[in-house]
Amino acid sequence: MPFDGTPVLVTGCSTGLGLETAMYLGARGFQVFATVRKPGDEDIVQVAARDHGARVKVVQLDLTRADSIARSIHDIVDQAGGLYGLINNAGIALRGCVEDLTNAELRLLFETNVIGTFGVTRAVLPYMRRARRGRIVTISSVGGRIATFGLSAYCASKFALEGFGEALALEVESFGIRSVLIEPGIVHTSRWDINRGNAVGALDPRSAYAEIFRRHEAVADAAVERSRTRPSDVARAVHRALTVPNPAMRYVQQCATSWGAPLISLFCCGAICRMRSSKGCTSVV
Ligand SMILES: NC(=O)c1ccc[n+]([C@@H]2O[C@H](COP(=O)([O-])OP(=O)(O)OC[C@H]3O[C@@H](n4cnc5c(N)ncnc54)[C@H](OP(=O)(O)O)[C@@H]3O)[C@@H](O)[C@H]2O)c1
Repeated sequence: MPFDGTPVLVTGCSTGLGLETAMYLGARGFQVFATVRKPGDEDIVQVAARDHGARVKVVQLDLTRADSIARSIHDIVDQAGGLYGLINNAGIALRGCVEDLTNAELRLLFETNVIGTFGVTRAVLPYMRRARRGRIVTISSVGGRIATFGLSAYCASKFALEGFGEALALEVESFGIRSVLIEPGIVHTSRWDINRGNAVGALDPRSAYAEIFRRHEAVADAAVERSRTRPSDVARAVHRALTVPNPAMRYVQQCATSWGAPLISLFCCGAICRMRSSKGCTSVV
């Protein structure tokens, strides 16, 4: 296999898309460094790796702490002698209408999703530049292109990652490095239950938006139930972004058959058309 033993780093592997992607890549020969935020979660990844026959090493990394990022990247590069791929997957959600969000909630969201992603990327780029090759694959979202009711903050963080990924592509191309954005639609992971990220004020009965927010949440839940996009679809797109000689700028990851009525009511039709026809956008499923 051409990528046998090639070192890649996947952030946010305790659950969801990160765990699936780490296993998918590890079972296909990559040497995967999978990060978890909480030290107690290392076992989850190790057990999964045994089950999948995947080559995975677990590293502790908290995106909100610069010292944690620096230490982890140093240790990984020390062990692997370099790094070919970075999969910027870890991130949190924040659900609630603008008036119901606090600055503390916004700061944590942006510290994690945006500043943390910049930080990890900055830490790995010198090694990729020196090797004159590398792939930075960032898990954005359909919500990075289309804003949705009650998701202003999350969408703003993903819009930021879209700008990050595009500008980065221009900056690093001459060093042989590619920046790729993956834009999943709805995928049923813990993002939709324990990591849902409801703002404290979102469902407060005193909020002017509480009732309408609740109704939109029910529509979102119906869309999650109907979605046929699986974590393995996202993992496959990441694998493609790492392995094809000439990856696209973006891969939209939403099974066509799961564009059901609930999702259509979440994202307006015109916006979907805009997204699907935009330049450089590749749908892989
Ligand atoms: N699922 C979807 O429908 C969907 C759609 C579009 C895009 N996405 C994006 O896909 C990515 C993965 O989502 P998911 O569905 O797999 O969500 P998830 O199940 O909630 O997993 C998120 C991962 O990020 C980690 N994380 C959170 N804060 C962190 C921090 N400060 N430092 C390091 N790691 C941290 C979590 O660790 P802990 O367990 O320790 O919190 C967890 O491993 C996210 O960027 C998300 O925005 C998801």
